[in-house]
Amino acid sequence: MKKFGTVVKDQFGTTASVPAAEEHFFLPAGIIENLERIRMLSERHPVNVLVAGKQGCGKSTLVRQFAARNSRPLATFQIGILSEPGQLFGEHRLKDGQTYYQEFLFPRAIQTPGCVVHLEEINRPEHPKALNMLHSVLAEDRHVWIDELGHIKVADDVVFFATLNEGEEFVGTEMLDAALRDRFYVTMLDYLPPEVETRVLCLKADLSESDALTIVNVANRLRSNRNEPMVVSTRHTLMIAEMVNVRATVREAFVSSLQLNPDILETVLLSLHLELGKMDRTPRGDYQLY
Ligand SMILES: Nc1ncnc2c1ncn2[C@@H]1O[C@H](COP(=O)(O)OP(=O)(O)O)[C@@H](O)[C@H]1O
Ligand SMILES: [Mg+2]
Repeated sequence: MKKFGTVVKDQFGTTASVPAAEEHFFLPAGIIENLERIRMLSERHPVNVLVAGKQGCGKSTLVRQFAARNSRPLATFQIGILSEPGQLFGEHRLKDGQTYYQEFLFPRAIQTPGCVVHLEEINRPEHPKALNMLHSVLAEDRHVWIDELGHIKVADDVVFFATLNEGEEFVGTEMLDAALRDRFYVTMLDYLPPEVETRVLCLKADLSESDALTIVNVANRLRSNRNEPMVVSTRHTLMIAEMVNVRATVREAFVSSLQLNPDILETVLLSLHLELGKMDRTPRGDYQLY
């Protein structure tokens, strides 16, 4: 495996570095193999990968983990908030009555061999033209001209990871025009199967297996509720697990972590009481001095 520098700095000291590995992150074996192939390809030329999936299913963690495992610096950019094409590269500023151009981290990152460049929420830039300059960076010839910075060429071994949240009001890849979409390898991430999600909760929130299983069962009933299916991400079940770890009941933890219809939760809990024999305290409505 090639070795790269571990830090990217811009001229004002903003840095991007190799992130810490996440100890308990699970992925399907096929995706892990594919990420290894991406690493190998990236040692020949820059590569683009699109990671799509629902919110909280592990997209950002996957990108971070790729950088951590391969000891590469990670630089993350929020594409969802961009409002003009050149904004990633730098901006004109005023100092003592003089304007000057401040270069940002992005041009440094893409010129750093081995850098992992994470483009978050690539489907939602505020301005439709905001992606224009990215197009040239992601295309085969991989260079762009910026008046203030000159010719910028993407370094060898750079990997671009674009992530997009599916299932929001702007639906996924249709938002990316075909020319851009065609330049990416695509990885689809889904929520974890119940037995793996249960393990994650045990490991990360230090819960007993039975508490973790109860949470995953309730979450899955809510997810598959026929009348009103809910989005309950791994991020949510982890929040719920942490609440239970500090002695909330499962009911209290769900109520405080999700905005949900109490009747639906009640029905789900009742149906699971029968299966699991788990009792839950009734919610406390009495008033006390705090
Ligand atoms: N497959 C997984 N294994 C372990 N933890 C996970 C997994 N997927 C998500 N998580 C945890 O859920 C939280 C949200 O994940 P994140 O990567 O931010 O999701 P996304 O970027 O898709 O919104 C993080 O704490 C992450 O560690
Ligand atoms: Mg994310």
